[in-house]
Amino acid sequence: MPVTTYPTAPIDGQVPGTSGLRKKTQVFSSPGYLETYVQAVLNAIGAPGKTLVLGGDGRFFNDTASAIILRMAAANGVAKVIVGQNGILSTPAASHLIRLRKADGGIILSASHNPGGPDGDFGLKYNIANGGPAPESVTDEIVSKATTITEYHMTDTAAPSLSQVGTLTLDGMTLEVVDPVEDYAVLMDELFEMPAIRALFASGFRMRFDAMHAVTGPYAKEILVNRLGAHPNTVLNGAPLKDFGAQIGGGHPDPNPVWAKPLYDLMMDEDAPDFAAASDGDGDRNMILGRDIYVTPSDSLAVLAANADLAPGYAGGINGIARSMPTSGASDRVAKKLGIEAFQTPTGWKYFGTLLDAGRATLCGEESAGTGSNHVREKDGLWAVLLWLNILAVRRESVADILTAHWAEFGRNYYSRHDYEAVDSGLAEGIVADLRARLDTLAGTTAAGSLVTSAEEFAYTDPVDGSHTTNQGLIISFEGGARAMLRLSGTGTEGATIRVYLENYAGPEEDHSLDAQVALKDVIAATEEITGIRTRTGRDHPDVIS
Ligand code: G1P
Ligand code: ZN
Repeated sequence: MPVTTYPTAPIDGQVPGTSGLRKKTQVFSSPGYLETYVQAVLNAIGAPGKTLVLGGDGRFFNDTASAIILRMAAANGVAKVIVGQNGILSTPAASHLIRLRKADGGIILSASHNPGGPDGDFGLKYNIANGGPAPESVTDEIVSKATTITEYHMTDTAAPSLSQVGTLTLDGMTLEVVDPVEDYAVLMDELFEMPAIRALFASGFRMRFDAMHAVTGPYAKEILVNRLGAHPNTVLNGAPLKDFGAQIGGGHPDPNPVWAKPLYDLMMDEDAPDFAAASDGDGDRNMILGRDIYVTPSDSLAVLAANADLAPGYAGGINGIARSMPTSGASDRVAKKLGIEAFQTPTGWKYFGTLLDAGRATLCGEESAGTGSNHVREKDGLWAVLLWLNILAVRRESVADILTAHWAEFGRNYYSRHDYEAVDSGLAEGIVADLRARLDTLAGTTAAGSLVTSAEEFAYTDPVDGSHTTNQGLIISFEGGARAMLRLSGTGTEGATIRVYLENYAGPEEDHSLDAQVALKDVIAATEEITGIRTRTGRDHPDVIS
């Protein structure tokens, strides 16, 4: 087999963040950069004889990167790669494929909801045999290899076209090209009451799903339109584009009220359809909307958990609910009522893996539009949409009525996230460091009329494997159950993003009709008084409020 060995490029201690390695496309495609990181992955996992899954969200550089990875896998003795047709797999579909085919792991090419294109972002994430993101022990090993190896290996043979489903070989390595949608659609059929959802659509129920020109277009068309009988106009922006439509209309595949504004506005209209949803670049995030109502991801997790038993896949009940630390406590209240365990983990899906594997958590969620379950080991946008549809099909109530009834039963956790983006990294780190240094002195102080009951830095000991993680964000708790959380983003590619998470609880008998920013105004004021973010960054408001 003709293999050439090349010198590596410096990865200069770039630690993969919350979700794999994510950089500007120009950095990723610079000579030797992707190759060096891929060689580090292959060395860390011990490539010879392994079976790997490969696929990405189709963004710019996806096809070039897939070809390079296949040639490197062959050169490093990988036995087989199962790859999505045209190099495409949504993140949840990749997770499922790793599990279904009992692969040793997989490489997912995506920068999630970050913009794509030559001036956008690119990313690479290694997932382990359970289908989930590699834990820190593995990513540490990859980083250590990436910074010490001096050469990488690649076959001279060009990678074959991935446009046809079927089995090929590349210099002795088996290459199986699979339909990216089929296996995933079968899994959804198993989990949900498809005839009930089909009947819902047949009854005139109207929905819009915004695929944001990203990977879920073909998945949504197959499942919602072909299998469930939704009207073909249900799927908006269903044609995947390499830049997610940035050129044609400023598209940015982040399913939130800011970037999916047209969908949001449509749903705030009197003639709005009954239900709407959107998903991100790689299909793992979701946004849920009803007529005249936006469901926060934290509330969505709670409602899904409280109603999961309406879907066949969860008919026996759920074992536990895990949420990331900054996610609101709404799902904890559901867990309490169901008499099941509730877990608070650090930010990032990788921390749910052990709980899911051990059967202690069935549903998981993050405030950042991520919801999922034990059916795969990634968050799953379309899964969340289908579980909502299943619940709507059984309850035959509006989204707004379901949410109102939920708050009347459990109370409402008012919630919002304020992001300060592209802040000078030194300044952002200074703000966090200064607050960290004062944590011990905060309890008992009053800020903007709110009494601080405790302040701490979040650390986590995994209840399954005992691994310990520190520095996972600062938490300020106020009298009455309000919380403010502060952490720096681990996925940004420009300067630092300061995330401030704000939460306040109104019990079942209290007013649930307030605007979240109004309900949170005291917590917001107290947090600014304590942290000085606006003063120190010179900004009078956050860049993004979600
Ligand atoms: C963000 C989200 C986090 C999510 C991650 C990957 O990370 O906040 O919940 O797991 O993207 O999708 P962050 O930029 O905050 O580090
Ligand atoms: Zn994503």
